Amino acid sequence: MASAGSSHDRGSLEEPRGPQGTASGPDRPERRRAFVARGLTKVYGKGEVAVHALRGVDLELFEGELAVLLGPSGSGKSTLVNIMGGLDLPTAGQVFFHDLELTAFDERALTAYRRENVGFVFQFYNLVPSLTARENVALITDIARDPLPAEEALALVGLAERLDHFPAELSGGEQQRVAVARAIAKRPEVLLCDEPTGALDSKTGVLVLEAIERVNRELGTTTAMITHNAAIADMADRVISLADGRIAGVRENATKSPARALAW
Ligand SMILES: Nc1ncnc2c1ncn2[C@@H]1O[C@H](COP(=O)(O)OP(=O)(O)OP(=O)(O)O)[C@@H](O)[C@H]1O
Ligand SMILES: [Mg+2]
Repeated sequence: MASAGSSHDRGSLEEPRGPQGTASGPDRPERRRAFVARGLTKVYGKGEVAVHALRGVDLELFEGELAVLLGPSGSGKSTLVNIMGGLDLPTAGQVFFHDLELTAFDERALTAYRRENVGFVFQFYNLVPSLTARENVALITDIARDPLPAEEALALVGLAERLDHFPAELSGGEQQRVAVARAIAKRPEVLLCDEPTGALDSKTGVLVLEAIERVNRELGTTTAMITHNAAIADMADRVISLADGRIAGVRENATKSPARALAW
């Protein structure tokens, strides 16, 4: 284990570092980090039109946790999650996934990282309209190494009865649950969700959140979910608030609300 405070412990994630470095304490066993981000900045554009989307973000995500990233529009949530998911690179700073430094990866290595480790769920479901629910999921399971059968992934999100329905025959919430099944069918270590309920009403959104909650609990998938809906934060292990490109606070929920108890 690297010694705390060493300036040569680049890549070692065993010791707490930085402002949120409270991975262990007397009352709780050490939690293993899936991600560590240090000093992340992201600037879009140059000169007078430059937009500072991230202004020095230090963050960790722990293995198996369900973290909610909360913040107003434009606070940098999607930018941060896209960088963790290997969809984008920061202007400066480092991101580690375990001992892999994503920020040192080239395009090819990032693509392999995404393919092997990350499931994404976005606000809009992006299902292939000409394929059934089962076929949409099988698109992924056909090329994954040790996938869940498509039927099992769809059962996990409560759609065992909808396998042969086309997207147009499914409600918005059901389509989003197909998207969750598709994202997790390759058994990714990480699930990144960007406003997964953004297009849904409360009742339908809760069913999607229950699916995400179940994946997190039953598969142990490290999950980060973006929302600007504060009610959703109650189902998280930790709530990471962003404001103006910075971490504005990190809070731990002493007790999590089950997704089914949420409403907005
Ligand atoms: N490709 C881009 N080019 C230029 N500016 C961008 C780009 N992507 C994001 N931005 C800007 O960076 C800032 C942060 O954007 P980001 O999408 O991360 O915010 P967000 O918190 O996800 O917001 P929302 O809740 O609206 O999705 C915003 O001011 C946005 O306009
Ligand atoms: Mg966003």
